[in-house]
Amino acid sequence: MDLRKEAVYITEKAALYHADFLDIAGHMEDNSVDLVFTDPPYELESGGMKSGKLKYEGGEVFRNCGFSTKNIDFTQWIPEIYRILKSGRYFYVMTNDRNIFPIHKVCTACNFKFCELLVLDKKMTVPSIYYPKRAEFILMYRKGNYRKFHFTGATVMEAGMPRGKEKRHPTEKPVSVIRHLVRCSTLEGELCLDPFMGSCPAGEACLKENRRFIGVEIENKWFRVSQDRIMAMERK
Ligand SMILES: C[S@@+](CC[C@H](N)C(=O)[O-])C[C@H]1O[C@@H](n2cnc3c(N)ncnc32)[C@H](O)[C@@H]1O
Repeated sequence: MDLRKEAVYITEKAALYHADFLDIAGHMEDNSVDLVFTDPPYELESGGMKSGKLKYEGGEVFRNCGFSTKNIDFTQWIPEIYRILKSGRYFYVMTNDRNIFPIHKVCTACNFKFCELLVLDKKMTVPSIYYPKRAEFILMYRKGNYRKFHFTGATVMEAGMPRGKEKRHPTEKPVSVIRHLVRCSTLEGELCLDPFMGSCPAGEACLKENRRFIGVEIENKWFRVSQDRIMAMERK
C-alpha cells in the first residue's frame, strides 16, 4: 500500500491523515521516520475537584481532555512508535506530571533509551489541590545508538501557551518549543511524525524548519483545523 496515496491532505512536504493512528501505523514501514514528537491523549485527573472538571486559566473547562474519542492506551501506540522510528533517532512525548511514570514504563519496556526529562515552564498556573501547576514535561527517548547533534538551550524551556485568537485546540502546544526540538534532533529534509497532531503545531514547526511531516488526527474538527493551518502555510 502506498501510504502517501491514502493521505487525506497531501503536499510536497506534508501528509495529513484523518484516521486512528493505529490504523495508519499498520501501514507504516519499520524504521521509516527520523523523529516522533507527540502530545498524546490521556485522561486528565480532576486534582481533587468534586465536579471532575479542570478549569484552565482563560476560563475554558474541559472534561477528559475535551475529546469525545475513547483514550488510547500507551501500551497500544508506543510499541508502534518504536517499530516505525529509525535507529539512532529521537522520540519526544509531552505529558503532565501524573503520566510521566506510566509512559516511562511502557517506553523502557519497548527498549527505548531514556535521554532527558525536559521541563516546559508554561508561564501560567493551573489550580491544584497541592501547588498550582505551571510546568509540562517532555520525555526524550532514543532508539538504538546515540546520534550526535548540537543540543542547544537547556532542559528547562519557557513558552507561553497559545491563547485568545491564536488558540485553536484546548491543549494546543507552542510551535517555538517544537521547532527547537526538531532543529536539535533532525537534519533538513528528514521525516517527522506526530501520531496525535490535534491542531498541528508540529506540522507548522516541521515545515518552518524544512523537515517533512506526517500527522494523524482522529477527530474531524481538529483534522480540518490542521489542514487549514498547513494550507495557509503553503499559500504564503
Ligand atoms: C493532546 S491532543 C494534541 C494537541 C496538539 N498537540 C495541539 O497542540 O493541538 C491529542 C489529540 O489526539 C487525538 N486523538 C485521540 N485518539 C487518537 C487516535 N487513536 N488517533 C489519532 N488521533 C487521536 C485527539 O482528538 C486530540 O486532538
